[in-house]
Amino acid sequence: MHRITTLAVAAFALGIAAAALAAEPLKIGLVLPVSGPFAAYGKQIEHGVRLYLTTHGDTVAGRKVELIIKDDSPGTSGDISKRLAQELVVKDKVDVLAGFGLTPSALAVAPLATEAKKPMVVMNAATSSITTRSPYVLRTSHTLAQDTAPMATWAANNKIRKVYTLVADYGPGHDAEEQFKKTFTAAGGEIVGDVRVPVKNPDFAPYLQKIKDTKPDAVFLFMPPGSETIAFMKGFKDRGLADAGIRIIATGDLTDEDILNAVGDSALGVITAFHYSQVHDSPENKAYTEAYAKAYPKDRANFMSVAGYDGMHLIAAVIEKTGGSADPEKFVAAAKGMSWVSPRGKITIDPDTRDIVQTVYIRKVERVGADLQNVEFDSIPDVKDPVKEDPAKR
Ligand code: PHB
Repeated sequence: MHRITTLAVAAFALGIAAAALAAEPLKIGLVLPVSGPFAAYGKQIEHGVRLYLTTHGDTVAGRKVELIIKDDSPGTSGDISKRLAQELVVKDKVDVLAGFGLTPSALAVAPLATEAKKPMVVMNAATSSITTRSPYVLRTSHTLAQDTAPMATWAANNKIRKVYTLVADYGPGHDAEEQFKKTFTAAGGEIVGDVRVPVKNPDFAPYLQKIKDTKPDAVFLFMPPGSETIAFMKGFKDRGLADAGIRIIATGDLTDEDILNAVGDSALGVITAFHYSQVHDSPENKAYTEAYAKAYPKDRANFMSVAGYDGMHLIAAVIEKTGGSADPEKFVAAAKGMSWVSPRGKITIDPDTRDIVQTVYIRKVERVGADLQNVEFDSIPDVKDPVKEDPAKR
């Protein structure tokens, strides 16, 4: 009798412990620039994460999702991002680190994810090497090389022979430049000049003059979207490069829906390669953009919002699969090879690299109703990060 009572008490206590665990919130710490020059990145990613929770429910495997946002403005200082991520781990005791608008932020936090044993879901920062900096990093955005290689192939196949490259002088710019040169020259194209410009406030006048004098068929470009990309596009037109017959080709970061209307008609006709367009034609994107417009009527769904939405999808699907555990080994094992249909099309977490595999679309800027839009006209399915084709770079 005594033994039965003891067992019953033990079982009762275990039940309480299990219920307590089930009731533990799932804390997600988002490190994002929500103020400063890249505030739009934080806003869009946060919108995407929240939209996922409002459309799919905010409880996962019995755990209510709690978002804790830390503003790492300007987003380009690794030290700030690292200190805030440390706070999220030590004080807030988050289960998952996520967000990361810009490369310096993700690079600075990756070693901490390893040390603190936290899964880290990168929702924008797009330098290839980020996923190699911790075995706990997963990415739901893109890599620059992934969008650049199809752009270079398209250019070579479409009578563009001589290209001048202009990129922001940091990780994603370097990756874009390197991949463009590699793919374009392998296809017979010629690079007639290259320049790396400061990430913030470059004076474009001398670069534009030099490009105009060099007379390439096109300029290939990567800069993080913002006031700089708007200034470049306007300068390109005002200084007569467009009239001289020079074309702009780029990854879709240049024609981000968040800034496209501000660029105005000088963006018309620009060809880009990218993994998301607001007017991507699919039932999933129709549902997504309608829900987004309803929730955030002042903003346009863009690639950052979708990466936030898919990043939250990944976290939710993984936690369901692990039965509520955010243990980093279990988390990463569950995420590897996971595949689903996103508003951008089918996406998969590459089991070998933890990076995203997705369709890259070739698009042209056109006016659609009241807005400038990236209208897709070609697509390349299942594109992996080309940098990691070399196993030594995984
Ligand atoms: C980055 O810093 O990694 C970055 C920022 C903006 C982009 C893409 C990449 O559009």
